[in-house]
Amino acid sequence: MRRQVAALAVVLALAGCGSGGPDPARSPAALPSSAAQATPAGAAGTGFQPGAPGAGDPYFSTYGNGGYDVASYQLKVRYDPAANQLTGTATIKATATANLSRFNLDLAGLTVQSVTVDGMAATSVRDKSELVITPARGLARGKSFTVTIAYGGQPGPINPAQVTGGFLRSGDGAVAIGEPESASAWFPVNDHPSDKATYTIEVTVPEGVSALSNGVLAGRSTSGGWTTWRWAEKAPMASYLVLLAIGDYRVTTGEHDGKPVVTAVAASLPAGGSAERALARTTEITDFLATKFGPYPFDAYGGIVIDDERVSYALETQTRPVYGPDFFDGAVDPSWVVAHELAHQWYGDSVSVRQWRDIWLNEGFATYAEWLWDEHQGGPSVAQSFDLAYRRSNDAIWRVSAGDPGSGNLLSRAVYQRGAMTLQALRMTVGDDTFFRILKTWAAEKRGGNGDTGEFIALAERLSGKSLRSLFDAWLYKRSQPPLPS
Ligand code: ARG
Ligand code: ZN
Repeated sequence: MRRQVAALAVVLALAGCGSGGPDPARSPAALPSSAAQATPAGAAGTGFQPGAPGAGDPYFSTYGNGGYDVASYQLKVRYDPAANQLTGTATIKATATANLSRFNLDLAGLTVQSVTVDGMAATSVRDKSELVITPARGLARGKSFTVTIAYGGQPGPINPAQVTGGFLRSGDGAVAIGEPESASAWFPVNDHPSDKATYTIEVTVPEGVSALSNGVLAGRSTSGGWTTWRWAEKAPMASYLVLLAIGDYRVTTGEHDGKPVVTAVAASLPAGGSAERALARTTEITDFLATKFGPYPFDAYGGIVIDDERVSYALETQTRPVYGPDFFDGAVDPSWVVAHELAHQWYGDSVSVRQWRDIWLNEGFATYAEWLWDEHQGGPSVAQSFDLAYRRSNDAIWRVSAGDPGSGNLLSRAVYQRGAMTLQALRMTVGDDTFFRILKTWAAEKRGGNGDTGEFIALAERLSGKSLRSLFDAWLYKRSQPPLPS
C-alpha cells in the first residue's frame, strides 16, 4: 500500500499506478455456447465440455478458469539471474467441478515443454496467456486429478506496459509480486483468489544467492554450485499472494510463539537502517493486531524489503509481506506500513476476496489497522484519524463506490479511505464490543477461505441485532459524502 493521508506525492503516484485494468493482450472469456460444440472426450462421450477460460470475475474476465478447484501446487523452479532463464515443473492437484473435456491454466509468456494429466501425456495449446490442456480422457465431475507441466523461458512483467507486477528482473536477481495478478508470470496457475490452494515452492539459484518465498523454510541444500531453497505454505493461499524474491539479501531467522520468523533486506540497502529496524518490529506489531483481530492465522512470520525502484508499493504476500524501498528513506516512522501489511494477513490473506470488487474488505481493514496502530503508539486516536480522513476527503473519493470501485479504481484511495471510514461508522453504530466481535468473528469464521461484502454485512447485522443496510449503503456505495453517524 501507499500512505495516502500524509504523503501527497504518494497520492499523485497512485493516480498513475494503473493497478486495475484487464490485460488487453488476453482473449475475452467465452463460455461454450452449447453442448453441441463441446468435444466429446473419453468413454463417456457426452456431456463433457471445455472449462471456462475465466473464473467469472466481472472485473477481470480472463483471470482464473472454470471447471476445477486446485488443492495444491508443487513448484520446482531453477532461475539463473545472469541469463534471466527460468526452468520449472509444476505439479498441480485439483478436482473437477464439471465434466471436463479440457481445461485452462493461466501462464503469461514462457514456453511449455510437456503436460501430463494423471501421468498420461496431454495435449496443450497456448492462446495468449491461456494454457489450454486436453487430457487423454475427459475428467468427470468430482474426480481428483494431477497435472504436471514442464516449462521455461525468460519471465517478465505480466503486462509489458505496466512494469509494476509480474516477474521483475533486477540487477542480482528478481522479484515476482503484483496485485491483482503476478503468479502466471512464473508458473501455470488458476490465477484468481477464489481458488486458494496450498503450496510447496522449491527454488534453485546459484550458490550464495537467496531465494525467498512464503511460509516455512523446510530445507536448503547445495550441490554443484546451486542451492535449492524449499518453502512450504500449508494454509490455503490466493495466487496473487505467492512471493518469489531472488537476490542478494541479508536474511534473519528467528522464532516467535514457536513459529519461524524469516525477514530479509536487500543487501544494497544500508545495514542497520530504517528498513531493518521496521522489519524487526514484525512480531511486536503482529501480536498487537492479534489482540484486535484474534489469533494470527499462519505458521510463519516475516517480511522482505526489496530494492527495486519500480516497486513503490508494499504487498501482503502471505506470511511474508514485501515492501518496496521508498517506505524507509524518509523521516517518517515506517511502522505504519508494516501494520498495514500485517493486518492483511487476517484480512486479505486468511480471509480472501471471492471477487475483486470486494477489495475494500482487504484495504479498508488494513487502513483501519493503521489507525489502530497509530493510536497504540500514542499518535492520533482512531476517532481522530477517522475525523481527519472524513474532513480532508475530497469529492473524488466519494464519487468512487468503495464497495464496487471498478477495475480501474481497484486500489484507489477511495477503497482504502472509504473502506476504513466505513468500519469506523460501523463501530460508532454498534459500539466497541460488538465491533471488535464482528472483526474477530469474520476472521475466525472465514479463516482460510473467501468472503464477500454481503456476507460481512450479514455477520454485522447478526452480531449487532441491527439493520445496517443503509449504513453500508451510505459509507460504501453511495456516490456522495454521508453525514457523520449520530
Ligand atoms: N495490496 C497492496 C497494499 O495494500 C497494494 C498493492 C498496490 N499495487 C500496485 N501495483 N500499486 O499494500
Ligand atoms: Zn493494503
